[in-house]
Amino acid sequence: MPDPAQPHVQASMVIHNIGQLVTLAQQPIEGASGPLQVIAKAAMAVHHGNITWIGPDNETEPLFQHDTHTPRDGITVVDAQGAVVTPGLVDSHTHLVFAGDRAEEFHLRRSGISYGELLAQGRGILTTMNATRRADTRLLLDLAKARIDSLRAYGTTTVEVKTGYGLDMITEEACLRIINNLNALEESSAYQNSQVRVVPTFLGAHVLPPEYRDRRDDYVKLVVDEMLPSFVGLARFCDVFCEREAFTLEECRRILTKAKALGYQLKIHADQLSPSGGAALAAELGAVSADHLDHASDTDLDALREAGVVATLLPGCSYTLRSPYPAARRFLDHGLHVALATDFNPGTSYCENMQMVLGLAMSSMGMSLEEALTAVTINGARALALEDEIGSIEVGKKCELALWSINDYHEIGYHFGVNLVQSVLVQR
Ligand code: NIG
Ligand code: FE
Repeated sequence: MPDPAQPHVQASMVIHNIGQLVTLAQQPIEGASGPLQVIAKAAMAVHHGNITWIGPDNETEPLFQHDTHTPRDGITVVDAQGAVVTPGLVDSHTHLVFAGDRAEEFHLRRSGISYGELLAQGRGILTTMNATRRADTRLLLDLAKARIDSLRAYGTTTVEVKTGYGLDMITEEACLRIINNLNALEESSAYQNSQVRVVPTFLGAHVLPPEYRDRRDDYVKLVVDEMLPSFVGLARFCDVFCEREAFTLEECRRILTKAKALGYQLKIHADQLSPSGGAALAAELGAVSADHLDHASDTDLDALREAGVVATLLPGCSYTLRSPYPAARRFLDHGLHVALATDFNPGTSYCENMQMVLGLAMSSMGMSLEEALTAVTINGARALALEDEIGSIEVGKKCELALWSINDYHEIGYHFGVNLVQSVLVQR
């Protein structure tokens, strides 16, 4: 807490007239209350993208000229007009680079055919692979940009984006370059104050492409010996789909072991459709997150906790596939860090809206508002190994905020089916 007599908080921007600042601070802050460390009638200062001060609105004196109420030279003043302010939402699991859609399959599933059956018929992920391979890079980039605009409108400021619909050297590389381009575009002046941070993940082991049907080992070799070494620097994470319909535990171990040796951080689609051993592998290899986990056992959950792996739950899939929702209470009771993400993709979760995910977690997974807000902010950041930079509003962290057009944060998850976020505010 600064001494109000101390005149020199460093600031290029001050945001004042915040109705409630929901900090999610990981250390207790003076003047803040409750599990989310909320400050009523708050203000904050930011210097070159870093938060330098947070506190009550009536203690902003150090940011202003003495004896007047005009800001010090060079400080931009933002009036939040009483908005509730939270950390920007962190969507730590999406597949948003693809062409085409799967509306037809969605409706077929409603008449009884399962996701697994469609995949076995060469549809599902392969339908999207075909559309993606056929699309030119300009179209893929434009589609992805529109999806980023959409998730930004719902309050997301950091998003992880996976490849996995190319499944050959050329298209996987093109998709990774598109993901990196998205980041570069966001950093351009067009998105000043609202740029979304894009974290790239390589998911070459999504499903076996049809040309390798009778020689699956050759595809695993392509991923391990050619794709992974070539894509160092283009992807921060390597992910695999460890599932009966996709890649075996042994294949996933080979791919992830090589990825780790090359310096990638690891993620796993684990135990989504059946118990695949993916959770245990995530713990064994020290993955940053294990995602889905619908069929993970109690032993798996203990192993994940001991290894510090974040459990990422994806209720959009349950909503779309009409399957049981992940039992969030089990994960929380095992002492795990639980993150929530959209899993935005054309097959199992065609949804960019983290508020919807948060609402599902509260209505159908037994999470409290506080647990769900933690899961879409600081725990999303943990699932990307970015918890030292983002996910909470604390001195020293980056300024990535969501401004909500509500009077009290308890309206989140209660008032549903509408967009409660008015804007995001990002300083880099
Ligand atoms: O996370 N499980 C694998 N991947 C996606 C689905 C992708 C698709 O159906 O296109 C998921 O659910
Ligand atoms: Fe996924």
